[in-house]
Amino acid sequence: MKNTISQQIEIKKASESKIGQVDFENLNFGKIFTDHMFVCDFVNGEWQSPKIVPYGLLTIEPSARVFHYGQAVFEGMKAYKDDNGDTFLFRPDENFKRINKSAERLAIPEFPEEYFFEGLHTLLKLDNEWIKPGYGNSLYIRPFVIATQASVSASEADEYKFMIICSPAQSYYSGDVSVLVAEKFSRSANGGFGYAKAAGNYAGQFYPTKLAKEKGYQQVIWTDANTHEYMEEAGTMNVFFRVNDTLLTAPVSDRILDGVTRKSLIAMAEKEGIKVEVRPVKVSEIVEAAKNGTLKEVFGAGTAAVVSPIKAFGYQGDHYEIEKQEQPYADFFKKALMDIQYNKAEDPFGWRQKV
Ligand code: COI
Repeated sequence: MKNTISQQIEIKKASESKIGQVDFENLNFGKIFTDHMFVCDFVNGEWQSPKIVPYGLLTIEPSARVFHYGQAVFEGMKAYKDDNGDTFLFRPDENFKRINKSAERLAIPEFPEEYFFEGLHTLLKLDNEWIKPGYGNSLYIRPFVIATQASVSASEADEYKFMIICSPAQSYYSGDVSVLVAEKFSRSANGGFGYAKAAGNYAGQFYPTKLAKEKGYQQVIWTDANTHEYMEEAGTMNVFFRVNDTLLTAPVSDRILDGVTRKSLIAMAEKEGIKVEVRPVKVSEIVEAAKNGTLKEVFGAGTAAVVSPIKAFGYQGDHYEIEKQEQPYADFFKKALMDIQYNKAEDPFGWRQKV
């Protein structure tokens, strides 16, 4: 009889769970990890049999290429629990497709679909207690791939490690966010890999974001590298602008991440009859709208950030506050999205996947 993938996943259980030590009411994003992790190595030209092992340290050569050339990609997903104790994923097929798209751009071998889903589902069943019910509680899932080949020669590796680790999560941002619009630094360029969830895309943002934080802003809204005239994305989230009752957001491109939350909000807006314009958004039109009072809302959308209202932005030394609306679109989208994710509402789009 042919072995199924789940029969091939070797499972070594943790001798003791750490769950009792966790304060689930006061979680800092991404600091605590569940009892197990999924690991699969690429050697000799193929992905080997996957394993689930206790979460713990890795032994990797200091010369592994990931440490020198940043050959690494990742994903961000979440699992949600409803009041009956059932667990759900949200559009996981999108994350699977995207990690392989990112991998291709960084010359990393494609990861097999059945390994990804069997590994993920098996891991979520094993660490199911870590997924707490209730709005806002979730398990943040971080699949990633790193180049493990021991060699500082500057070319793509021929050995990799694909892993999934999981972290119980609440909100990513506490409260509304202020952002600084980029005037000098760039996150990505045409022909680059801004669309990929590549580790280097994030590393390159930390210094400009550090400077923005010194000015009192938590995030940067990146603008196009050529002219800095167009709004792109915020690095941890895509960005939406509500001018009067129309939503504006930049089209995805070489430079902009094709966010799962972003595309879900666009679909929900269209279904709801909210006008959405997916087009290049000029910084000057947003500044003008902020000045003349037609800029009603700005919000970010992402897996970790969910829908995060932006209360102010800085540009060319000026600071623009955005007045809170009585019925913000951001609140509507957040609730509608979470109702689907937490199995509280019908899922007309077929996005929810039971684990
Ligand atoms: C996510 O939303 O999953 C992200 O990848 C953002 C992350 C860098 C925290």
